[in-house]
Amino acid sequence: MKSKPVVVVTRKLPDAVETRMRELFDARLNLDDQPMSRAALAEAMASASAIVPTVTDRIDREIINAAGPQMRLIANFGNGVDHIDVAAAAARGITVTNTPGVLTDDTADMTMALIMAVARRIVAGAAVIPSGEWGGWSPTWMLGSRITGKRLGIIGMGRIGQALAKRAKAFGLSIHYHNRRRVAPALEDQLEATWWDSLDQMLARMDIISVNCPRTPATYHLLSARRLKLLKPTAIVVNTARGEVIDEVALTRMLEAREIAGAGLDVFEHEPAVSNKLVRLAREGRVTLLPHMGSATIEGRIDMGEKVIINLKTFADGHAPPDRVIPEIP
Ligand code: 8YV
Repeated sequence: MKSKPVVVVTRKLPDAVETRMRELFDARLNLDDQPMSRAALAEAMASASAIVPTVTDRIDREIINAAGPQMRLIANFGNGVDHIDVAAAAARGITVTNTPGVLTDDTADMTMALIMAVARRIVAGAAVIPSGEWGGWSPTWMLGSRITGKRLGIIGMGRIGQALAKRAKAFGLSIHYHNRRRVAPALEDQLEATWWDSLDQMLARMDIISVNCPRTPATYHLLSARRLKLLKPTAIVVNTARGEVIDEVALTRMLEAREIAGAGLDVFEHEPAVSNKLVRLAREGRVTLLPHMGSATIEGRIDMGEKVIINLKTFADGHAPPDRVIPEIP
């Protein structure tokens, strides 16, 4: 009988996913969920046929170069692959896959939730009653800003950007977007979305900006200090993509100086570290900070696991896995 391929899974996954992995593979699971050290990752590359990393594992050139000849597949549990050096993997003949599609709606929901939380001061408001400080209703207290009729600028009109646009349209926001490529006219019509070739021009005219593009070399600090300065002082910035797309120091400085109105951040430049300044702004109710929860639903995590399993299984059976990530052409 052919032996099962050794698959190292770097974090604890939902039970149903781990059970299936155990049935199909010689799965080396991480039941206590402690993030693996660099040495343990290198050891996995040297000994396993496939590895299932997550956003918390940095699979860089050094780790990839630790791979033995038996290592053939990096089956990422997640959509974004910015923590994996895909080009270095390709150079070693190692395939990389991800889990697109299954976290689109959950992430779009959380983006909409952050927009609402910041605009309507939901987090600050929700703290009032538990703290026993509510003295009663007042006409001028806890006022946020209206969503309906405002302009939302979406940076990155991929799956998540489109799912956000659908939701935001239902909330009465007018939809604007900047994307490397303009989307099909039929989709633009359906979303009633306006394309901006110039990101700078879009930024200057929006009430809310949402970052929904992947983190690539081209999107690193796409919202640079210069670009952030183009925003209206009443603008809100929301990010459920990757922290590195925004110059976080510049964003923080502008929030402190009240040069923009607020921010809702689910991702950070140096996760899990979050600057004291941002934490202070959160305590003051000026920003809403979430610990990378965009896709955190039980259904989503099981679907992601199933995608990983399909990629592992098709690859082990000698076929092309469905969610292969092609290295970016520099
Ligand atoms: C995941 C994400 O939770 O899929 C992604 O790109 O950012 C998250 O929603 C994480 O990446 C899992 O590895």
